[in-house]
Amino acid sequence: MNKSVESTLLSRRSIRRYEREQIKNEDMQFIYDAIRNTPTSYNGQQYSVIDLDDPILKEQIYEITGQKQIKTCNHFLIFVADYNKIGVIAKTKGIDSIPFAETTDGLIVGVIDASLAMMSALVAAESRGLGTCPIGYTRTVAPEKLSRLLGLPEGVAIVCGLAIGVPREMPDIKPKQPESLIIHHNGYRQDDMLRELIEYDREVSIYNETRSGDKTTNDWATHIVGYYREGEDYHMGDALRRQGFLKKD
Ligand SMILES: Cc1cc2nc3c(=O)[nH]c(=O)nc-3n(C[C@H](O)[C@H](O)[C@H](O)COP(=O)(O)O)c2cc1C
Repeated sequence: MNKSVESTLLSRRSIRRYEREQIKNEDMQFIYDAIRNTPTSYNGQQYSVIDLDDPILKEQIYEITGQKQIKTCNHFLIFVADYNKIGVIAKTKGIDSIPFAETTDGLIVGVIDASLAMMSALVAAESRGLGTCPIGYTRTVAPEKLSRLLGLPEGVAIVCGLAIGVPREMPDIKPKQPESLIIHHNGYRQDDMLRELIEYDREVSIYNETRSGDKTTNDWATHIVGYYREGEDYHMGDALRRQGFLKKD
């Protein structure tokens, strides 16, 4: 049954436990169609999606990333920035190809297109009552190993994964920053920001201590900065350059 747009967007939460049940073909078709109709920069469609439903491959990617959802979900979609396709046709048509992928904006464009496509897939899946969880570790943990495993050619780089399956849990919705911190009217507003941030930080701590299921004593700021610290050990630049990105400004 289709959910309303309102309920699809406002009741969404990441789902990390799935039933063994298969996703219906018509639901996967709807997800593919939604992906394909995503707006893209210049209509260049600088992205592709690799749909993994092979349990052995999903297990291998789980072992590389440590993210159990990849193993237990029914379909794991990997969204990649993709300049290979335009390169192939440009070469055949004798069009002098500009190495846009090598520029910073080229990378940003590919990441935006792939990310929007992921959001289309996520909303489509949620609207059919399915559960989803984006998996950023597919981008960061071992980009070269994963690129090899998936056979990614030059000009193609992993942006994010999306686990999709029939939900086996319904965790409480996480508190988000209040509208006043997210939506700025007619310019960036900083007055009262600190007070609102401290309040939000406290709200997240209370949520973490009282939510159903696993509880933690994490606050928001320490937890998030901890992720950024982890990011200092990623070597994304080298991996991206090896895939043909980020070679010039
Ligand atoms: C780009 C991106 C990458 C993410 N990567 C992971 C991940 O690797 N593992 C995970 O369990 N959740 C991941 N998440 C899910 C976030 O943790 C989750 O969206 C956030 O905690 C807010 O919770 P909610 O989705 O339930 O509202 C990711 C989300 C996004 C948007």
